[in-house]
Amino acid sequence: MKNIQKVYIETYGCQMNLSDSEIVVSILSEGGYGRTEDINSADIIFVNTCSIRENAEERVRKRLQFFRSLRKKKPELVIGLLGCMADRTRAALMDEEKLLDLVAGPDAYRDLPQLLSQVGSGQKAINTILSADETYADITPVRLDANHVSAFISIMRGCENYCSYCVVPSTRGQERSRDAASVVNETRDLFEKGYREVTLLGQNVNSYEWKSGDETINFARLLERVAQVDPLMRVRFATSHPKDISDELLHTIARHTNLCKTIHLPVQSGSNRMLDLMNRKYTREQYMERIDAIRRIIPGCAISTDIIAGFCHETEQDHRDTLSLMEWVGYDYAYMFKYSERPQTLAADTLPDNVPGTVKEQRLREIIDLQQKLSYQSNRQDTGKTFEVLVEGVSKRAETRYYGRNSQNKVVVFPKTGSGPGSYVHVQVERFTSATLLGKVV
Ligand code: SAH
Ligand code: SF4
Ligand code: F3S
Repeated sequence: MKNIQKVYIETYGCQMNLSDSEIVVSILSEGGYGRTEDINSADIIFVNTCSIRENAEERVRKRLQFFRSLRKKKPELVIGLLGCMADRTRAALMDEEKLLDLVAGPDAYRDLPQLLSQVGSGQKAINTILSADETYADITPVRLDANHVSAFISIMRGCENYCSYCVVPSTRGQERSRDAASVVNETRDLFEKGYREVTLLGQNVNSYEWKSGDETINFARLLERVAQVDPLMRVRFATSHPKDISDELLHTIARHTNLCKTIHLPVQSGSNRMLDLMNRKYTREQYMERIDAIRRIIPGCAISTDIIAGFCHETEQDHRDTLSLMEWVGYDYAYMFKYSERPQTLAADTLPDNVPGTVKEQRLREIIDLQQKLSYQSNRQDTGKTFEVLVEGVSKRAETRYYGRNSQNKVVVFPKTGSGPGSYVHVQVERFTSATLLGKVV
């Protein structure tokens, strides 16, 4: 009998990529391949890549060099590159540096068994064709999460917003939504397997739309259906684009206790001039109006964001506008980045990357410092409050404690109780650090 070939997969980038790796593993196991978490026993190494910033690509290139050193010891080792770097780097990586045997883009994963057999017969294999309708709706992902409590479900693929700095429309292609019934069924299946939290994923979930007969299901309706699978199943989602997060959606979240009270609403900049150059299609004032709506409709809702420092033509005043908006919103959490020019974007083609590196760094530093202050304030306000926490596992720092999250997505640590991962407990917050709430079960 032929030995089963084992695949080791490493994932970079966003939650969408993690979710894609689960689809890849599912396709490969259907195709007769095994999986390993030990790189040294792998016959095939896949790296699922991200292109969002230059340093994301750099990390992958370094890793590929390491994989190549493994191949020196094991010449039959197959090395494949998946994901967002596939199309942009295939020529360089396949031909010039001879690092790779296989390249597959985000819409080509069904083709992987075929591509691997091509490699088996001594050829290099490439498929980076983007699709207008692939959603992998019929594929049951093999869950790679550690805790079996919380899982991702991709509900859309691609993006057509063309924010001028962003590479995603070129790496992931046209926006398309996945069959609503398949999303609900996957949620139910996960619940039956013991999962208690799903995160619905898309680059802009607010533009989700699925037509079924005469009915059009928008994101608010999809969310409602997923919430109705079971009141014990928590539901999160990412990402919301500020230009089209609707009151209907906010009211839906307010109505269901299992729809988590946290919204990730990337602002990118607080300056109208920057927002226009970024092609974000909203103004500072419109963004503030949406924040007011969230506060009005969902009291106690956490709000997080993404911010880019030092985008093209950004002045000190534009930067101050970002800081003042952050302060006004009082974000609970933020992901903060220096602008990194990406090939095949509107900004790379039409705008100069003209903020000096040291200035970008200085501004990013100020943004991070301010956010630390805001996160601290947010945690301080939670002291004394009691939250329902979904237990996820044993704290890495102390065996005697569990950790979990509250509805607002904050990590809560507390002494172990009888009910383990997957159960709900009420925890009263007694102390906090900048990243964690600590308390006791009540
Ligand atoms: N679809 C999501 C985010 C996708 S990328 C949205 O629209 O919000 C995640 C974050 O990476 C972005 O929100 C942005 O803040 C950051 N980002 C994207 N391109 C970048 C670039 N070229 N340089 C620096 N940060 C970038
Ligand atoms: Fe990129 Fe904008 Fe699409 Fe987000 S919405 S993935 S930032 S183009
Ligand atoms: Fe995600 Fe990176 Fe691609 S952020 S969509 S893996 S470019």
